[in-house]
Amino acid sequence: MKERKNVYKLPSGDKTLEWYSKAVAVMKTRPATDPTSWYYQAAIHGFYASNPFWSGVGTLPPLSERDTYWERCQHQSWYFLPWHRMYLAYFEQIVAQAVADLGGPTDWALPFWDYSEISNPERLDIPAAFTTPNDDSNPLWMPGRNNQVKAADTVLTALDIDFYTTLSNGMTGFGGPVTTFHHGGGYSGGLESLPHNKIHVDIGGAMGDPDTAGLDPIFWLHHANIDRLWQVWLNLGGNRHNPTKSDWLDFSFDFHDKDRKPVVIQNKDVLDTRKVLSGYTYQGVPVKNTEPVVESTKKLVRRFVPPLDIVAASDKAHELTKTGAQLSLELSPSRAKATALKSAGLLERAGDKKHILLRFENIKGTGIAPVYSVYINASDKDGNKQANYAGSIALFGLERASTSDKHHSGSGLNEQLDVTDLIAHLRTLPNWDEKKLDISIKPDREVGDKVTVSIGRISLYSE
Ligand code: C2O
Repeated sequence: MKERKNVYKLPSGDKTLEWYSKAVAVMKTRPATDPTSWYYQAAIHGFYASNPFWSGVGTLPPLSERDTYWERCQHQSWYFLPWHRMYLAYFEQIVAQAVADLGGPTDWALPFWDYSEISNPERLDIPAAFTTPNDDSNPLWMPGRNNQVKAADTVLTALDIDFYTTLSNGMTGFGGPVTTFHHGGGYSGGLESLPHNKIHVDIGGAMGDPDTAGLDPIFWLHHANIDRLWQVWLNLGGNRHNPTKSDWLDFSFDFHDKDRKPVVIQNKDVLDTRKVLSGYTYQGVPVKNTEPVVESTKKLVRRFVPPLDIVAASDKAHELTKTGAQLSLELSPSRAKATALKSAGLLERAGDKKHILLRFENIKGTGIAPVYSVYINASDKDGNKQANYAGSIALFGLERASTSDKHHSGSGLNEQLDVTDLIAHLRTLPNWDEKKLDISIKPDREVGDKVTVSIGRISLYSE
């Protein structure tokens, strides 16, 4: 049984990352036709021939092989967690074999990068072995990264979500919406959205795009952390358990093992990490509650929020500029306007509902957009305008989700922020304007020249 350790808690003199670096160097010398090569492993996640990060790829495996093994990553899907667990397990096996072949230890395990560990002042930095030396003499280095991720929102709000799949009323589940094979587009699950997507686009470079992310050696430590958080979530118990439906349990994916042998593996094979290949656990995380059928007696406790008889939607697309966007949603629109919005399918009635969601739909664009912070502007009790942070949106996979091809519908990404508590608070303020909602969307970092983002529809939705 292997233990995947916290990269920031490796004892001094530990060689885990040194061996990783040596194995990566070896994998990079292998041709892209070899399933154990660096290029092949990254292409299992995504591949885009014309992206400059792929310029050195050379001869590709035959199309029939690529159709089965390449571009398989599962995003905005309830397969997000199991697929990435399988992907990491075979990758770890391949690296471990390379380490052993080089004369290293025979129990090499992937470490995890816990960027949410508040007690660690360095947690937001990509670990030093990946950035020093900061050039291509270092097999763990990649060009174009931000070496430190932004602090806000690496907190683990996703762990509070006590259901796995997205509910029929649109509330986002921890693990993602019910789909069949789904390479991207639509809404992300709770954990996928935050911190997963945010870390990707905030690092940027190859990590900012699913078609190149697997080329960055830090990708694997990020995903080990995401995989760890799946177990942390299950351990919290209550209603937190894996799906019980056979279209989730029995769904299978194709990989190659360390001996380059094709393998088929089902989601139900990876629910207990101790039984995945040679088995592993995470440092500090016991394995509890892995069984797919865990019936809980605990009732869902939902806070009660007085009904808000508004729901609003923008009736045009919003382009985000270098400074983001400012907009206002008309609440409680006039009757004529409401009828017009309604017939255009842009207005939904709230009624007696408990959650208020700020939704961004059909987000399309090009390039790697930074994380955007969303604020609702309102006057505080002294009449001063305040920007109230509502959450952030990270558009991982934006460009491909905007293009229609064999894996994507082209309708873009969707995001939603639960603003129930924030709106409830704002409504208690004396100057609250029940007629319109002022929203600003601001980039967390400078927006690159190739970046364009447009949001097809912004709405306040109540369920
Ligand atoms: Cu499949 Cu972090 O991405």
